[in-house]
Amino acid sequence: MMSLGQRLQMTVFGTSHGPEVGVEIVGLPAGCPIDVEAIQRQLDRRRPVGRRLATKRQEEDQLQVDRGLVDGRSDGGPFRAHVDNEDVRRQPYDPLRNVPRPGHADFPARVRYGPDADLSGGGIFSGRMTVGLVIAGAIARGLLASTGVDVVAFTRSIGPVEVEGVADLSLSELRARAATNEVETPDGGAASRMEEAIRAARREGDSLGGVVEVHADGLPVGLGEPFFDSLESTLAHAYFSIPAVKAVEFGEGFRAARLRGSEHNDEFVWDGNRVRTRTNHAGGILGGLATGMPLVARLAVKPTSSIARPQRSVDLVSHAAVDLTVTGRHDPCIVPRAVGVAENLTAFVLADLALRGGFLA
Ligand SMILES: Cc1cc2nc3c(=O)[nH]c(=O)nc-3n(C[C@H](O)[C@H](O)[C@H](O)COP(=O)(O)O)c2cc1C
Repeated sequence: MMSLGQRLQMTVFGTSHGPEVGVEIVGLPAGCPIDVEAIQRQLDRRRPVGRRLATKRQEEDQLQVDRGLVDGRSDGGPFRAHVDNEDVRRQPYDPLRNVPRPGHADFPARVRYGPDADLSGGGIFSGRMTVGLVIAGAIARGLLASTGVDVVAFTRSIGPVEVEGVADLSLSELRARAATNEVETPDGGAASRMEEAIRAARREGDSLGGVVEVHADGLPVGLGEPFFDSLESTLAHAYFSIPAVKAVEFGEGFRAARLRGSEHNDEFVWDGNRVRTRTNHAGGILGGLATGMPLVARLAVKPTSSIARPQRSVDLVSHAAVDLTVTGRHDPCIVPRAVGVAENLTAFVLADLALRGGFLA
């Protein structure tokens, strides 16, 4: 399934080493402002170029709008945009044709789709596919602008290094601080320790995982749909489409299981303007609906599977054991590049739910 959303729906297309990757969006109301430069800025956050700690693949990722845009606004029909795949090198993937990389999608994908599927560079399982998620999310931000909803994501941890002292920062402070370093984290001290941890893992032919945290403010109370399409379900459904995301939690998440009701409940207060809660253990969601408090979600990203160390695998044709050394260009840590993806994808899901719930015209 390559499509996400109901009233606002995106369909991603392309493969890592095909001619292009991109997205088609249906359900955009006519006249929605589409700021091509703003979309490009979001795409630039995802690019590895200029990042010392990322893959050396030269992805320019220049946005090309194919249809649906007239004078800076949506025309009411399907919107389609893509970026060309540049600097494609298939050769490092030839030895992987029959020998799956441990930890990557190669094995189940080869069994399911057969020998002719183009899995070079990971095919449709590549991080390249997130280009479409970023474009769609950046457009959704334009839709959400009138509602006051704002979304920020940042790196919470990489390997053993975790941010400190950011709990009381506003969204604009989080955004400004995270923009000052390559790992997109709001704690400058942690940033240099994270960068050093990534460099050390790379020197050892290894990789690191970590946690992306998403905050969203300004959600109208009641946003979300009951039961199967709750705010948590729709967001988690989207987050798990980001390759390498292995766990998602909201508010206290798994820690909630260890708390008492008296510790976990968020007490209501009238602040002179609106009902709010003193604390926000719920992460802004009760009963699958927004409470109006900040939405807080965390995404666990696994360590990059394509590592430079020799690993054991099996030739799927001869069934012989193989000592596999993965070559090619890979990120030693995916987390910083997943930050912008998670942020924009959140905006897309919130815009779809806002349209479904009548919060947006
Ligand atoms: C932005 C981004 C970049 C990625 N880059 C790489 C990479 O360079 N090498 C790699 O092995 N995996 C990379 N991945 C992760 C794989 O695509 C993913 O682990 C693989 O498809 C298996 O899916 P799963 O981890 O969700 O099970 C990247 C993911 C993202 C989101």
